[in-house]
Amino acid sequence: MGHVDTGKTKLLDCIRGTNVQEGEAGGITQQIGATYFPAENIRERTKELKADAKLNVPGLLVIDTPGHESFTNLRSRGSGLCDIAILVVDIMHGLEQQTIESLNLLKMRNTDFIVALNKVDRLYGWKTCRNAPITKAMKQQSKDVQIEFNMRLTQVITQFKEQGLNTELYYKNKEMGETFSIVPTSAISGEGIPDLLLLLIQWAQKTMVKRLTYSNEVQCTVLEVKVVEGHGTTIDVVLVNGVLHEGDQIVVCGLQGPIVTTIRALLTPHPMKELRVKGAYLHHKEIKAAQGIKITAQGLEHTIAGTSLYVVGPHDDLEHIKEVAMED
Ligand code: GTP
Ligand code: MG
Ligand code: NA
Repeated sequence: MGHVDTGKTKLLDCIRGTNVQEGEAGGITQQIGATYFPAENIRERTKELKADAKLNVPGLLVIDTPGHESFTNLRSRGSGLCDIAILVVDIMHGLEQQTIESLNLLKMRNTDFIVALNKVDRLYGWKTCRNAPITKAMKQQSKDVQIEFNMRLTQVITQFKEQGLNTELYYKNKEMGETFSIVPTSAISGEGIPDLLLLLIQWAQKTMVKRLTYSNEVQCTVLEVKVVEGHGTTIDVVLVNGVLHEGDQIVVCGLQGPIVTTIRALLTPHPMKELRVKGAYLHHKEIKAAQGIKITAQGLEHTIAGTSLYVVGPHDDLEHIKEVAMED
């Protein structure tokens, strides 16, 4: 999450090795995105930190949200889907209007977050250390760069303080939970990306393993309704909890009433690819959370984005589920 143009999509591009941002109209994100990062890729990307992080989580599903002021509803929806957020702040601009709006959403839902203090490569005289851990990159910098960095960092910490939040550089942060961690990053040259990924994984390891084991109830949100050549009208969803199967009977909220249909195909982009970008799809017989999924089925034309998807189990009361689906 974060203010427009702080580099949210570019950070994901840097991790994925993709170019999604340059394909966006006006360089502005206008939809929620979702990308699956397998643990293997993350391990590879963090190995220089030698943290030897045990990865008992299968991977991370990362959701991208727009920062433009007109998309408050999408930021709200995005923040409602996540277990932890990355709040991206432009080091040259500090906290901005939608940074604060995002902060308030996170506070409201009591969502944990990490601050990515992005665009460090724009500090005057920055020496590129491609994809290096941030402390290593910092050591390569001149005194002047270090002074400017510390000055801007202090300003940002003060601005967070004004919002009632304690923040600190992650490697100085001794009270995780009380004090939020800041990771300096560059989405262009990749400094700090290993650190950001490692923090996410360590957090997931600590918090998610238990939760993943116990949540079987389907929790699934419709992001987009899209016509795709060869598939008809499809819905892009984020499956937050539970399992979906090909052939499952589902109910979604429609403009003209509840839509009851059957999942014809469960499609995902390849790992490390963005769901909102057209590409090749993988077919699945069943999918476990968390995943960004394209669902094909009949009759989805009037589905309302932002609502929940329900699965009708063998012992469920369809009429009741139809009512619940329309309450969204
Ligand atoms: P919205 O989704 O529209 O809110 O923007 P965003 O936060 O996703 O930012 P985006 O990735 O679109 O990047 C905005 C601009 O900043 C682009 O021109 C990027 O190339 C540039 N940019 C992003 N990250 C960095 C960075 O770390 N360093 C530098 N120098 N430029 C960056
Ligand atoms: Mg973006
Ligand atoms: Na942008």
